[in-house]
Amino acid sequence: MENVTILLGLLFIWILVYGVMSLGRSKNKKRLAPGPFPLPIIGNLHLLGDKPHISLAKLSKIHGPIMNLKLGQINTVVISSSVLAREVMQKRDLAFANRSVADALRARNHSDFSVVFLPVNSRWRTLRKIMNSNIFSGNKLDANQHLRTKKIQELVDHCHKSAKNGETVDIGRAAFRTSLNLLSNTIFSKDLSDPFSDSAKEFKDLVWSIMVEAGKPNLVDYFPFLVKIDPQGIRRRMTDHFTKILDLMSGLIDERLKERKLRNHANVDVLDALLNISHDSPEELDRNLIEQMCLDLFAAGTDTTSNTLEWAMAELLQNPHILEKAQEELAQMIGRGKLVDEADIAQLPYLRCIVKETLRIHPALPFLIPRKVEEDVELCGYIVPKDSQVLVNVWAIGRDSGLWENPLVFKPERFLESEIDVRGQDFELIPFGAGRRICPGLPLAIRMIPVALGSLLNTFNWKLQGGIAPKDLDMEEKFGITLGKAQPLLATPIPL
Ligand code: HEM
Ligand SMILES: *[C@@H]1O[C@H](CO)[C@@H](O)[C@H](O)[C@H]1NC(C)=O
Ligand SMILES: *[C@@H]1O[C@H](CO)[C@@H](O)[C@H](O)[C@H]1NC(C)=O
Ligand SMILES: *[C@@H]1O[C@H](CO)[C@@H](O)[C@H](O)[C@H]1NC(C)=O
Repeated sequence: MENVTILLGLLFIWILVYGVMSLGRSKNKKRLAPGPFPLPIIGNLHLLGDKPHISLAKLSKIHGPIMNLKLGQINTVVISSSVLAREVMQKRDLAFANRSVADALRARNHSDFSVVFLPVNSRWRTLRKIMNSNIFSGNKLDANQHLRTKKIQELVDHCHKSAKNGETVDIGRAAFRTSLNLLSNTIFSKDLSDPFSDSAKEFKDLVWSIMVEAGKPNLVDYFPFLVKIDPQGIRRRMTDHFTKILDLMSGLIDERLKERKLRNHANVDVLDALLNISHDSPEELDRNLIEQMCLDLFAAGTDTTSNTLEWAMAELLQNPHILEKAQEELAQMIGRGKLVDEADIAQLPYLRCIVKETLRIHPALPFLIPRKVEEDVELCGYIVPKDSQVLVNVWAIGRDSGLWENPLVFKPERFLESEIDVRGQDFELIPFGAGRRICPGLPLAIRMIPVALGSLLNTFNWKLQGGIAPKDLDMEEKFGITLGKAQPLLATPIPL
């Protein structure tokens, strides 16, 4: 008798569960992509850990290259294969081209004026067009490359000074300042941070603080109902930082407007071009948009570039035979001891391979910059529900053993005989993203990185601090807004 009751009970439960499940199904007719089972309230947040790119790469081995997760209240779809990345960023690019905006970036209404976070609309198109033709075109970059050469010289001088004093160089910090000054000279034709002295470090610290703040996981992004409370104070601090940096930009613009009134002012750099546009067609670009664009350029271009440089140096110090091979190429093509010029890059194929290999294993933005769908979108038979955040795990794609032989081995040679490039056409290597949202700063980045790296290699030999053997170098990653090195790379330069 008791057995029958239990059986009936089980049957009842089964019918209930089945009923609820099919009810759920019929509500959204198509299936969600597979994924881990969400807990109440937090969903799958507990699975992310402090290195979400690795956790999600592991989960995708179980659930597949398209996964559906629930991060707090936010539905999140994670793409982890080159085939699906092509689907999202090429075939269905428009449907996936809007951004999911972290709350921190709404400070000072930045996201309403930012080329990085605006949805695909006419303002975004105008800003992209202005950037492409006035900052990142080949002609414009050629015209101000002499200013960047000076900053590379200063980097090398700084290393010479350290060498003379027997000090180590913190490669990440040196790279950060250099990237900042390369950018500020490209835009304003001047330094915003006194190179390698700590007297005028305010601007550098500001950009640094913005990266730190933006990199913190924010509860508001997973539980939007907390937005008014701002429990971690992130929006509040970000508002301070943004206000300071926008005021700084505003000061520079005032200064320039004054100079332009003087007869002898040459009127030829990027800022002049932007001011010309805002004078001729203020409906396209006004002063606020110029200030916010500068903020965008520094925020998007500094940490990405300097992290890539630090990782490249770390990989070379860990692999001395690759470093030597790069030095041989430099000695042969441009002569030992010389700085690398942007025009030299074309003749330095091995150096270019090193940069690609660095971007493959250490993409500065492991999830690109998050995308978002505004409507239900069908993708490979699954439904990506309206308002989902979409992450493309380029870190996982760069280490996919189905695409790369011995993916964990740093081997620039793999690109010598290959046509694969980083420009968004080859979806096995998309550190700059792809499609209409591809990084507009790519043409500048692929000049700055090889020039800085090549110059450091062609003027010095490098020894790891404290006699650490190359194979013992700590290569641990630290997840933040960009993927950095957990332990700073410290190395001693020995002039060649
Ligand atoms: C190694 C260096 C760099 C890397 C790896 C990198 C990577 C990226 C990635 C992955 C995206 C998002 C693309 C997507 O969603 O498909 C992006 C966007 C962007 N990057 Fe870069 N970037 C670098 C350097 C720069 C530089 C030097 C600048 C400018 C000075 C810059 C400016 C931007 C801007 C403005 C966007 C937003 C574009 C949009 O949303 O329409 N980046 N970058
Ligand atoms: C992106 O956002 C804009 C503005 O909110 C909207 O008009 C557009 O439809 C969105 N695009 C897609 C593909 O959902
Ligand atoms: C941001 O935009 C909102 C509404 O568009 C406006 O009320 C507010 O004053 C703006 N805040 C700032 C700091 O510009
Ligand atoms: C800005 O406009 C002035 C005056 O029309 C012109 O001489 C100058 O070349 C322009 N500058 C740029 C960078 O386009």
